[in-house]
Amino acid sequence: EKVKSTYTIGFSQCVGTDLWRKTMLDEMKMELSLHPGVKFLYSDAQNSSARQISQVRVMLRKGIDLLVISPNEAQPLTAVVEEAYNKGIPVIVIDRKTSSTLYTAYVGADNYQLGKMAGEYLGSTLKGDASVLEVMGLPGSSPAIERDRGFYDGIKKFSNIRIAAKVYGDWLKPNTQRQLHKIKTELPGITAVFAHNDVMASGVREVFNSLKLSPGLKIVGVDALPGPGGGLQKVSDKVIDASVLYPTGGKEAIVTAFRILNKEPFSRENILQSLIIDSANVQLMKMQWARVNSQQKDIERQQELIEEQQGIYNSQQVILNITVIT
Ligand code: FRU
Repeated sequence: EKVKSTYTIGFSQCVGTDLWRKTMLDEMKMELSLHPGVKFLYSDAQNSSARQISQVRVMLRKGIDLLVISPNEAQPLTAVVEEAYNKGIPVIVIDRKTSSTLYTAYVGADNYQLGKMAGEYLGSTLKGDASVLEVMGLPGSSPAIERDRGFYDGIKKFSNIRIAAKVYGDWLKPNTQRQLHKIKTELPGITAVFAHNDVMASGVREVFNSLKLSPGLKIVGVDALPGPGGGLQKVSDKVIDASVLYPTGGKEAIVTAFRILNKEPFSRENILQSLIIDSANVQLMKMQWARVNSQQKDIERQQELIEEQQGIYNSQQVILNITVIT
């Protein structure tokens, strides 16, 4: 089979506006910029599974050579992803999964393992009897299901810890805070919190602060994003006590996409590594990130200079040929 010279890659994102997913897209763009001529079709389903299904259908109609997708909820997105796969379009599932094994490759951290790490971390840091509040992501989204299971298994061996309350925060701060206000009377007994992401974790801190229940409360989140507004900053500011790193996989997804398109060997399961960030290692992580970020800025500056010299200065958008589907 012949390998095409220009490809169209479709990327269906479940929601595009939060820092984690902006970081994912930036990583993808960086990697895409190494492949001049590629066309990139991007859509943001804004947390709606119905919208995501129709956006994928639009991509299939327009014609794509490969689909990258982070499915909002597993079950509702399964059929359309299987449809793409059965048409012979390679599918890379990133971060969230469908309920099916019909996909070409998966990129993301092991969410069960992440939940387990959070549980074991709380188990080894909490002394004496502890009542834990678990704030889960969107029901039906695979990381929420897997983090919940992993967390349960992680704390299982610590007999001093029990899960006293569980709410769904849907990955969002306002929803988390609404749910916590509903169970306000149960909050005074809570000594620790596992929130499925840092956005919800910091929402929990605000509620406990406003109820004057914060002293002694340990909060663990997930994501540990670098930069302003990210989890690393929240850990170092002690808004949260720890965060489990959840790499976005944006770069790895595009690398895998080109391996598949160019008929090169690739792995079907690309499991990204994670670790716990707390006060013991957060400064190191921040320093590392600052270094990488400044090198990145240097590369971008060099790129601009080269383009100026060649007199072909174009915005990255034009070079990358991105089309946004609404
Ligand atoms: C971002 C996010 C992350 C979380 C991931 C789970 O949209 O909510 O905070 O780790 O999605 O899919």
